[in-house]
Amino acid sequence: MIDFKQKIAEQISNIANLPENKVYEYIEIPSDKKMGDFAFPCFRLAKELKKSPQLIAEDLKNKMSFDENIIDEINNLNGYLNFEVSKQAMIKTVLEEINLKQEHYGESEIGIGKNVVFDYSAPNIAKPFHIGHLRSTVIGGALYKIYKALGYKCIGINHLGDYGTQFGKLIEGYKRWGNEYNIDENPIDELTKIYVRINNLCKEDEKVLEDCRNNFKKLEDGDEYCTNLWKKFREVSLKEFQKVYDLLHVDFDSWNGEAFYSDKMQEVVDILQEQNLLVKSEGATVVDLSEKEMPPCIIEKTNGSTTYATRDLAAILYRARTYNFDKAIYVTSYEQILHFKQVFEVAKHLKLAEKYTDGLVHVPFGMVQLKTGKMSTREGNIIKLEDLLNEAISRVEDIMDTKNPELENKDEIARKIGIGAVIFNDLYNSRIKDEIFDWDTMLNFNGETGPYMQYIYVRTKSVLEKAGYIPEFKNIDFTKLEDEASMKVINKIYIFGDCIRQAAEKYEPYIIARYLIELAQNFSSFYNENKIIVEEKEIQDARLYLTYATGLILKSGAKLLGIEMPEKM
Ligand code: ARG
Repeated sequence: MIDFKQKIAEQISNIANLPENKVYEYIEIPSDKKMGDFAFPCFRLAKELKKSPQLIAEDLKNKMSFDENIIDEINNLNGYLNFEVSKQAMIKTVLEEINLKQEHYGESEIGIGKNVVFDYSAPNIAKPFHIGHLRSTVIGGALYKIYKALGYKCIGINHLGDYGTQFGKLIEGYKRWGNEYNIDENPIDELTKIYVRINNLCKEDEKVLEDCRNNFKKLEDGDEYCTNLWKKFREVSLKEFQKVYDLLHVDFDSWNGEAFYSDKMQEVVDILQEQNLLVKSEGATVVDLSEKEMPPCIIEKTNGSTTYATRDLAAILYRARTYNFDKAIYVTSYEQILHFKQVFEVAKHLKLAEKYTDGLVHVPFGMVQLKTGKMSTREGNIIKLEDLLNEAISRVEDIMDTKNPELENKDEIARKIGIGAVIFNDLYNSRIKDEIFDWDTMLNFNGETGPYMQYIYVRTKSVLEKAGYIPEFKNIDFTKLEDEASMKVINKIYIFGDCIRQAAEKYEPYIIARYLIELAQNFSSFYNENKIIVEEKEIQDARLYLTYATGLILKSGAKLLGIEMPEKM
């Protein structure tokens, strides 16, 4: 595929004698089409070339010449050089690439040979899989797929919260009242009740809290009673989490949770000790981070128990060795920003190659607000994710009952639309923004939503079905697509690969979500302005092919977000 920006950069860099990649970065894509398809701000070179932007623009313009007729016009406007790409070159390169790559259009090989670890989802055993974990699952899952499309080898890890002092509490609660609760039937609910109850007792009675702490210590030391209970809690919880993963169609390459590192933390302690980095603070063992203006990172608690941070440090060692990662990406809410800053700082002292510590990235996201307020396990005000996803599906079923009562396979389609709506809503804004969870907004078939995108996709399918064929590429007359509406779709398809790369670079799946809405909207205008099924075969073929191409991109873009497309709705 022709990289027009590259071609322009090449010329400017030759004429002005500047590095091509620098010039490439300066080239902009104007939001106003009147400014051309690409613009080069000449003031960027004014200092270096000791000339006015106006003169630089004039000079460049005179000296530039493009072969293959790829640029139609170059205009010098207020110190900007505006380039108009030849429509024919644009149409040709886009459709040729579609024909060649099909559903792999937009993918690249920039990541080949590089390993990326994704740490996401990570719900906590015996606690509800809540909407914050949904965000982690959805954002992390999307990033995983996005990186994969760029050729990276991706390793998805579910770093389950299956260890820690809360297990001491649960064990204590279960020991006291276990027979009052039916944890096999309804594990998370029942375990949560036990957790809430023991927590309240701990608040009243310091002695109970002490017992809880000791239980965890016993668990760490391999005590049989505690270990068996822990196993049971883990097993029943995972079974319930699996229901959510099944609905979302997510899977992981590794399920090594925090407990997996229970025998791997001593090494961390030893390495830090060896470098005299461990100090005692109020009975606990910590790494002082005051120089970095952070509170100390606690490595061992007063009673010798390890911490969440220690387990993360052990995980970094393990993952560096096991996966030889170039990047390790952690997706959690912004509440953990400080935690990861501390852990990444301490990790610099684990004697790992710099490559690894440089590759650690925390990707934080905002909270989800329900209209009814924030959720918390401790107060027991819980929205279960499984219920929430099922509600999305049943709401869609209701909508479909009125919109299209005759629809076959309604269950499957409602699942794709309902789950797709929730995922899309989660990914449509910059991840750090708090998200408002509102059914009417996310299920609006005419909004900037998952269902809208799916609806437009289904429309491309039904047009092709009505025509009864997908035209052969070699028969397409590109000149039939020069109208404004068609060009908008083509220009949009042209930048798909760029969007994937940007989304990866910024860890922002919303870049793809927004892109897909724009493409859907562009297609919708194209569809409203141009009749597709027409008398003249050449026009019909060209428009059908563009319809086909749009459907292809919508589907593979949605797939990158973890959204499946229904073929009918
Ligand atoms: N289980 C944690 C939580 O629910 C998230 C774990 C994130 N990953 C990690 N390596 N710390 O908050």
